[in-house]
Amino acid sequence: MRTIVCVALLCISTLSLTHGQRRFPEGFKFGVGTSAYQIEGGWNEDGKGESIWDHLVHNYPEKIADRTNGDVACDSYHNWRRDVEMIRELGVDIYRFSLAWSRILPTGISNQVNEKGVEYYNNLINELLKYNITPMVTLFHWDTPQRLQEMGGFTNRLIVGHFREYARIAFERFGDRVKIWTTFNEPPQTCRLPYEYDAMAPGLDFPGSYTYLCTHHLLLSHAEAVDLYRKEFQPTQGGQIGITVDGSWAEPVSEDQREASDITMQFLFGIYMHPIYIGNYPQMIIDRIGNLSIQQGFKKSRLPAFTAEELTKLKGSSDFFGYNGYTTNLVYMNDEANTANFRVPSFDHDRNTVDFQDDRWPSAGSPWLKVYPRGMYNVLSWIRREYGNPPVWVTENGVSDLGGTRDVARVQYYKDYLNAILDAIDDGCDVRGYVAWSLMDNFEWRAGLSERFGLYYVNYSDPGLTRYAKSSARAFANIVRNRWIDPDDMPEPELYIPGPGETITTTTVRAETTTKQGDDDDDDAASGVLVSKLLIIVSFMLFVLNM
Ligand SMILES: *[C@@H]1O[C@H](CO)[C@@H](O)[C@H](O)[C@H]1NC(C)=O
Ligand SMILES: *[C@@H]1O[C@H](CO)[C@@H](O)[C@H](O)[C@H]1NC(C)=O
Repeated sequence: MRTIVCVALLCISTLSLTHGQRRFPEGFKFGVGTSAYQIEGGWNEDGKGESIWDHLVHNYPEKIADRTNGDVACDSYHNWRRDVEMIRELGVDIYRFSLAWSRILPTGISNQVNEKGVEYYNNLINELLKYNITPMVTLFHWDTPQRLQEMGGFTNRLIVGHFREYARIAFERFGDRVKIWTTFNEPPQTCRLPYEYDAMAPGLDFPGSYTYLCTHHLLLSHAEAVDLYRKEFQPTQGGQIGITVDGSWAEPVSEDQREASDITMQFLFGIYMHPIYIGNYPQMIIDRIGNLSIQQGFKKSRLPAFTAEELTKLKGSSDFFGYNGYTTNLVYMNDEANTANFRVPSFDHDRNTVDFQDDRWPSAGSPWLKVYPRGMYNVLSWIRREYGNPPVWVTENGVSDLGGTRDVARVQYYKDYLNAILDAIDDGCDVRGYVAWSLMDNFEWRAGLSERFGLYYVNYSDPGLTRYAKSSARAFANIVRNRWIDPDDMPEPELYIPGPGETITTTTVRAETTTKQGDDDDDDAASGVLVSKLLIIVSFMLFVLNM
């Protein structure tokens, strides 16, 4: 009898520990992210050179949904102190931001350093460090210097040397204080979307060839920068360096479409990460593109080949796997007749899988983004299986809407996706940290200022670009502080600004604005843990007495 009692007690107490509040592991880091072109403004200030995004928005304004641009954006070139203040309010460990290559090297080449640009990043880095916030710096977030684009950008192999020298300047100038680097953020937005579909700068439409040339040189640029860092800087500076890729989980529409999922995942992730973690492009991709190229009348594969020396440099060239994830797609194989109507040749035709999204999944402010938290868990599990459980940083995750500060959907999104990450961690995935996208609303590329991803709302009509904490900023700060997810927490924003079509009301959200209330939550959590621990001790004693 006593045995039964103590076993039952033990069960109850462990259950309440794990289910009541699942905590983020010791050492798990939280952060928020932005990128240079999306927030800085000051596009030609103090000697900054033109980037491909400056060039696109000025010469093709019709390509931006609302005809806005990043000339001013959030004006973080002047508002960086306020940015750091917000990061402090959130209580996060990490601020992930990118350097604008053409702010530091106006032409892209390294003979002439723009000291004013260096000073801007020094100020930001020093301000962060003053408050114990770790800078996580991305060298490249899509803003190739326009002068280098005129030489072919990443389709020209010479970019590899230019990127390495740019990286050298970044390591020399900032590496004494920056200890987490990423080389590239989201290769597809630099290579596939611009060259396949004219969907990003430089905005060309030449499918099937230039995408792979760009990918190839981007990977070599990454490898060269990492090689340089490891040989000349890491020994004294002691930081980490990696790359960030993005991609949506590819969910097979049915059990017999598993192959479509595997192929899609290789074309989204494997094409970049297989060379880094395993060696070379995935053989399946080499074979498919190689064979199709010959059939299509090319003399050799449209996918370039690495030399043995290049493969050696690539292998192991990431200290962590940076992953940006937002949504999920359903996938199935295209058929022999090319019913999907893919252009030939093209990346889509090479991959030959069709994707779409389930209408039942909740939608967001961006047409491509539907909410499916399980996809985050699935990608993290895939990475663990595919690459032998490398250390992973979720370097971006978040959701858009079209305005408003009482962003109930975003609060729920963060809770659900963070819970999916906790599920992955429970399974043994080595997830080291989580960076929410984004600190504040910003210039969302071709969508302009219309889609808002921020934890902070930005009033673009105000010359001061005033920022206000949304409900999600408060909720995220509570998660970071408590280190567990309170399912009932739905705080009020700093200032209630209704979203489009939202009826002004003060009753949709449970009032919970004071820090007092937050502290109560903390106490609840603490007492829950205490009760559980006491129960464990009591049941253990009963167990011992029983023996
Ligand atoms: C494609 O090419 C590879 C090597 O060149 C070959 O082994 C393979 O059988 C070919 N066919 C297909 C359908 O992949
Ligand atoms: C945004 O700024 C403009 C200009 O200062 C002001 O008129 C407007 O009321 C502000 N909107 C909000 C929601 O604060």
